[in-house]
Amino acid sequence: MLFGAVVRMDLENNREELRRMVASLLRHVERCDRAGIRFLPRSQPSASEEKVAEDLLEGTEGNLFSDYAAAYRAKSLKELRAAIGDCRRCKLWPGRAHLVFGVGNPQAKLMFIGEGPGRDEDLQGEPFVGRAGQLLTDIITKGMGLKREDVYIANVIKCRPPENRNPEPDEVDSCEPFLKKQIELVRPQIIVALGKFAVQTLLRSKAPITRLRGIWHDYHGIKLMPTFHPAYLLRNPGDKKLVWEDIKKVLKGLRAPAA
Ligand code: URA
Repeated sequence: MLFGAVVRMDLENNREELRRMVASLLRHVERCDRAGIRFLPRSQPSASEEKVAEDLLEGTEGNLFSDYAAAYRAKSLKELRAAIGDCRRCKLWPGRAHLVFGVGNPQAKLMFIGEGPGRDEDLQGEPFVGRAGQLLTDIITKGMGLKREDVYIANVIKCRPPENRNPEPDEVDSCEPFLKKQIELVRPQIIVALGKFAVQTLLRSKAPITRLRGIWHDYHGIKLMPTFHPAYLLRNPGDKKLVWEDIKKVLKGLRAPAA
């Protein structure tokens, strides 16, 4: 009798498990269908089938089934922001007041990229609004003769690390696809990378900022100028003249016809 009950329970459990698997498989097939996938590779795929499957899963469109899929498909910054949602993809979310996405002209020719939000940015939900932000605004307005609304400003990571510590590699890995997509959507003529962290992350380099700054680099076909971070300049005002040298090159680059 007890054995019979156990078998019945097991059957019930299996049925529930099977129901869940079928529902999950159906959702998967529906997603494939929506993504235009009409076949799946056999167990021994040919090299060309393997390549197609690889491109679908890991290609420029990104993994169609990951929770980045909507972000990869975004056609505008608004759609990208919606796709990021109430992000919990890394361990920074519990400590944030706001996810700091980015601000400015979605078709800006010039994009500034910093490290990540500090306290003021976290509270206001906008990048570079604290003391360092005021200095960046001065560089843009007084130095370059532009308005803050003319350029686009973003950070490598979108949530404030505790006590403003450096972002950790897993946090950068989680957030960088969003920055890449932001850059792809804005498609600026020039990127100014602010400070060691942003520069080294974008250029995949370990070289010191003192060696990287002041010279043009290439970021997937976009001209990138590294310079010191405004927060560094607040501590080392003597280096403002070096930043001004870099900014003059950027102004000249903006006047040159886009490649
Ligand atoms: N520092 C950064 O790198 N980004 C900000 O948004 C503010 C300070």
